[in-house]
Amino acid sequence: MNSNIMKIFILLSFFSGVFMIQAAKYQIIPIPQKLIPKNGSFKFNSKTVVLCDFNCPEEVRLAHQFVSQIQLVSGLNIPVLRNQQNLNARAIIFKLTTDSGAESYRLKVTPNFIQINAGAAAGIFYAMQTLYQLMPVEIYGNKLAHKVKWQVPCVEIVDAPRFAYRGLHLDVSRHFFSINFIKKYLDAMAIHKLNTFHWHLTDDQGWRIEIKKYPKLTQVGSIRAQTLEGYYFSNPQKFDGKPYGGFYTQDEAREIVAYAAQRFITVIPEIEMPGHSEAALASYPFLSCNNDTTIRVATNWGIFKDVFCPRDTTFRFLENVLTEIMDIFPSKFIHIGGDECPKDRWKSCSDCQQLIQKLDLKDENGLQSYFIHRIENFLNAHGRSIIGWDEILDGGLAPNATVMSWRGTAGGVEAANAGHNVIMTPVTSCYFDHYQGDPSTEPLAIGGFLPISQVYAYEPIAPELAANDKKYVLGSQANVWTEYMPNSRQVEYMVFPRLAALSEVLWSGKNQRNWNDFRGRLLTQFERYKQLDINYSKAFFNVSFQSQLTTDHQTQVFLSCDDPIAEIYYWISGKKFRYTHPIIVDKNMIINAQAFEKKIPVGKLLSKTFH
Ligand code: ACM
Ligand code: ZN
Repeated sequence: MNSNIMKIFILLSFFSGVFMIQAAKYQIIPIPQKLIPKNGSFKFNSKTVVLCDFNCPEEVRLAHQFVSQIQLVSGLNIPVLRNQQNLNARAIIFKLTTDSGAESYRLKVTPNFIQINAGAAAGIFYAMQTLYQLMPVEIYGNKLAHKVKWQVPCVEIVDAPRFAYRGLHLDVSRHFFSINFIKKYLDAMAIHKLNTFHWHLTDDQGWRIEIKKYPKLTQVGSIRAQTLEGYYFSNPQKFDGKPYGGFYTQDEAREIVAYAAQRFITVIPEIEMPGHSEAALASYPFLSCNNDTTIRVATNWGIFKDVFCPRDTTFRFLENVLTEIMDIFPSKFIHIGGDECPKDRWKSCSDCQQLIQKLDLKDENGLQSYFIHRIENFLNAHGRSIIGWDEILDGGLAPNATVMSWRGTAGGVEAANAGHNVIMTPVTSCYFDHYQGDPSTEPLAIGGFLPISQVYAYEPIAPELAANDKKYVLGSQANVWTEYMPNSRQVEYMVFPRLAALSEVLWSGKNQRNWNDFRGRLLTQFERYKQLDINYSKAFFNVSFQSQLTTDHQTQVFLSCDDPIAEIYYWISGKKFRYTHPIIVDKNMIINAQAFEKKIPVGKLLSKTFH
């Protein structure tokens, strides 16, 4: 190397080193759209104040929320004062500006002040979330943290979300979760800058929302006689013999709507129709074809043939239910389900068949389309819009419907093609009920395989979409079906850290996506989850085995681990090796492998046999 090249090389190494140290200070998920590292830090002390505009109650509320969290963990008592335009030293200044979108913000940290500018209170809230991530992880705790330096590295951030709809779903029918847990779920969503909670309130296995006009929906429909134990496909199936139930009162649901609104989260309720409705039919048999009084709240998982009969009395019932739902939930969207509705009962019901003739419909798919259209008309007349699963495309889409594309991306593409808004939630990328690690080492789940790297690689704008149709993709969400999540700890296990990956897909720029960088930042996110007592999955720390045939027909085994700082060790016949290159399988062998950080095991010891 000649000396000039050598100098450039040293200089480059120096700058990349500086950059890496700089970058290590900013462990933000989802990564901001633009971040300029700066030297120095802002130190919180007894002189720190928060300044905000007292004419804006939302700003004042957020300022108080901010200082009370800091007080809780640091003991510092930071006053909230009226902003009188004088840029005091030691101030944290909240300010609304007119030059940016409602969820966008700018955050400037200097040694003397922190300035947060946003287009609306939501943007200030998101700036606060970013600011928390610049602070020591103890900011997420709920008690005084000792020996923590309360400071923030200097930085300039300009940030805005990529997608308007950033959602997370929860099925509370298959298993029921307390109001306290729903609040924890919403808190965690807010940290990830998500803004829509899709609350799946009704299904075959339980009706979970009080409807005053129809008390049996909860008296009867919220309780099932027993629950399937273990896996659906075990033979014979086993049941626990214990009644299971739970529901939310309207007051509790309103409390959740208000709690979510304070975190800039909209709650979209889902009332399933015409399928997934056994709990309603068990409560009021007149809703079923042939007034079947033998229908019970389902005790097993799956798709059931008993569904709402589309006669006028059923619509009157559903309209009354939706009237109460609209009164609780102010969201523009009401989700009406629409998925997985077998047509068996409609085929053999004289009322259904007469209706097909009278309306001159082609078949039972036409009846499903009529069902959804009629409910859409009702909700549109009340100023609301429907969302439905992609089966609402069958037989003709209702004119103003938004489609939630779950069976893949085709439904979403078709709907966008026809000028409808869509939310992408394909089973291959967004179903957080699927396994996130090797099923043999994970708690029982419904099936599938969705490691966090696959969530991170997800792109909501499907390549088949025409350029003009991309604007119809409002965003995406993760779905959390709870057949195999009997308690809230298991929900947390399935949702985290995959939600961190999805948050970056939804918030950050497409070209900012960088798996290597993300998995480094995830290590800090885990520390935050610990502070928040979130039972996140540790699959990230397990070794994955991949085998491949070489050109000379030998089997090679590759070991890898998502944890970027892990060292992998493996054992063959009791001998220990550090993994540096693929292992050649030259006889039947059992490979045991485990990931370590600084010689301490961080993942499970896993074992695989190769031939
Ligand atoms: C669904 O997963 N059935 C929407
Ligand atoms: Zn019928």
